[in-house]
Amino acid sequence: MRYLIFQRPYRRGNKSVSDELVFHFDIDGEDFTSAGQASVQIKKNLRALGISPEVIRRVSIAMYEGEINMVIHANGGKADVIISEDCITIILADHGPGIKNIEQAMQEGFSTATDNVRSLGFGAGMGLPNMKSYTDDMKIETEVGVGTTVTMKVNIK
Ligand SMILES: Nc1ncnc2c1ncn2[C@@H]1O[C@H](COP(=O)(O)OP(=O)(O)OP(=O)(O)O)[C@@H](O)[C@H]1O
Ligand SMILES: [Mg+2]
Repeated sequence: MRYLIFQRPYRRGNKSVSDELVFHFDIDGEDFTSAGQASVQIKKNLRALGISPEVIRRVSIAMYEGEINMVIHANGGKADVIISEDCITIILADHGPGIKNIEQAMQEGFSTATDNVRSLGFGAGMGLPNMKSYTDDMKIETEVGVGTTVTMKVNIK
């Protein structure tokens, strides 16, 4: 995993309203055993920023599940965590196989994980339902054969 932090002006229309902080991660797909590092890192960063423990818990659970999904289902991807004044936005984008049926994928217990992945403790089919329940908003954009982008928001106030 590689990551970088930068600050950029947050614009509403063409007006710069305030700065937002962006954490960018490149997440590898090969190594299942070290998966989850980006969510561990983001937890530390949010703590240092003085974000409330409840918000940190929700962000790190949602981020962990999304990060693991990119590793086990999509051979890795990119994650951006954007901290603005009133919310934290997590954008997870990959060029994996895409999701054929989002409604089915969102069901508790649905999983296409292989036996190998299950033997490592993943594949209960609980990641996406948990991501939805731990965030205030979640959107999945996906195309079979092209990839998947999951955008989640957690309100700070
Ligand atoms: N980024 C992704 N790319 C392709 N398919 C995905 C992606 N994320 C989820 N899926 C599909 O949606 C299914 C459900 O995902 P979910 O996270 O709920 O369960 P899981 O990853 O299989 O198991 P668990 O999260 O409990 O370890 C997956 O089995 C997979 O088929
Ligand atoms: Mg999962």
